[in-house]
Amino acid sequence: MRRAVCPGSFDPVTLGHLDIVGRASAIYDEVTVAVLINKKKSSLFTVDERIAMLREVTADYGNVVVSSFHGLLVDWCRANDVPVIVKGLRAISDFDYELQMAQMNHGLAGVETLFMTTNPLFSFLSSSLVKEVATYGGDVQHLVPAPVLERLQARLSEQTG
Ligand code: PNS
Repeated sequence: MRRAVCPGSFDPVTLGHLDIVGRASAIYDEVTVAVLINKKKSSLFTVDERIAMLREVTADYGNVVVSSFHGLLVDWCRANDVPVIVKGLRAISDFDYELQMAQMNHGLAGVETLFMTTNPLFSFLSSSLVKEVATYGGDVQHLVPAPVLERLQARLSEQTG
């Protein structure tokens, strides 16, 4: 079975992420979306909330599973027998850091990285930007899946009271 992982923070999942996950699922037999547990980074959604949203929006893909990991991604890959990381490349600005990570991950454990060019519709998109725009009342409905939009609006209105 050919397996791959799409790792990330997914705080929250955007249509850009979903585009990459869907395209990866057409290439590999099984794709795991793996949410990084990072206690040092503050997040809008808990890991469980992010996993629940990811499960909901990937439910139509029969070969996508959602999980979480902490520590090194390559350790998770080794433990789960996953030899390929799939990443989206939005712009040249992503490239330097992604190249470093890909080379480090290959050097550490022989894990390959497959870069997919992002759909140009989403090449400017990031979870941080979505949160910032939504915080100030900007329209992000074309940038995140509908269930995520609902939870994003609910979370932001809880925060502002
Ligand atoms: O969505 P993000 O936050 O840009 O995703 C970054 C992520 C989770 C893919 C990356 O930070 C990662 O792989 N972290 C796990 C720790 C690790 O393996 N670090 C060494 C990378 S070479």
